[in-house]
Amino acid sequence: MDLVSMTETARALVAPGKGILAADESTPTMAKRLGGIGLESTEQRRREYREILFTTMGIGEFISGVILFDETIRQHAADGTAFVEVLREHGVIPGIKVDKGTTPLAGFPGEVVTEGLDGLRGRLAEYVSVGAQFAKWRAVISIGDGRPTAPALEANAHALARYAALSQEAGLVPIVEPEVLMDGTHSLERCAEVTAATLRSVYEQLTRHRVVLEASLLKPNMVLSGADSPVQASLGEVADATITVLRETVPAAVPGIVFLSGGQSEQDATARLDAMNRRGPQPWELSFSFGRALQAPVLRAWVGDEANRDAAQAAFLHRAAMSGAARIGSYEPEMEAPSASRL
Ligand code: 13P
Repeated sequence: MDLVSMTETARALVAPGKGILAADESTPTMAKRLGGIGLESTEQRRREYREILFTTMGIGEFISGVILFDETIRQHAADGTAFVEVLREHGVIPGIKVDKGTTPLAGFPGEVVTEGLDGLRGRLAEYVSVGAQFAKWRAVISIGDGRPTAPALEANAHALARYAALSQEAGLVPIVEPEVLMDGTHSLERCAEVTAATLRSVYEQLTRHRVVLEASLLKPNMVLSGADSPVQASLGEVADATITVLRETVPAAVPGIVFLSGGQSEQDATARLDAMNRRGPQPWELSFSFGRALQAPVLRAWVGDEANRDAAQAAFLHRAAMSGAARIGSYEPEMEAPSASRL
């Protein structure tokens, strides 16, 4: 893909009313998710579960793209159609997670850096050949005593920039994901400060590495109070703090910002995105790239039983529709009522 097509893909991923499904859980993360509903994680079961998501009728109305994992991008639906094709038939753009997870950063206890740059050029070429149009790399920053340190921010931002440059070279739109974790007792203000420092470092490195921002997307955390903080910021405070930090740090050349849900409840994540979109136009589109906030109710409805397939797909379509509404600032909590979710 050339730059013009990459820019078009980036814009299509943040089209009005639509956002991204992050279904790129690594095999260990999938084992955790399936374990949560009492199931053993086998390749067959992971395939069956993802097939439920990808074959849900009507998802193309609310889902612009799906991030896949290495195993998933090679899998097929029960009728033999490649998952990539199943998604395309719904008008959904296939993407791929290309990082190899985090490893402790030597010399910096409690901090991590994301691996996966070695051999990345070759892997990207292969993902393009199986149909990927965009990529994702996740860096993880934690807040704690003396954390994050400047070297940890720098190492992670540098890796994100090298990944993003390689992705564009291969013709893939890079989703740049620096996640500041919500774990901890910190305040909203501390999260705002760390998120701003992280994003400044990321955009400095992206610029130095000649990444074309118009053909990239940002996937950040929302600015939140620490999950264990006794003081929890209100909906309005979260929306205002998040927009303020983003306006200070994210260049207007970036077409869209797609939030991760990061362990927020599905309704919190949806309501907060909605509140931000009600604040009026911003330099970039504000959308979602939720994993748990789109999938948690699907797993609960399915619990591994084929008889629950329809209920699981209804739960997915409902969450996608709620997120799609939040994407344009037209979500109302009343839309969550059971009668409203019946199809
Ligand atoms: P969550 O929305 O569950 O945080 O997942 C998004 C994601 O892709 C994390 O890398």
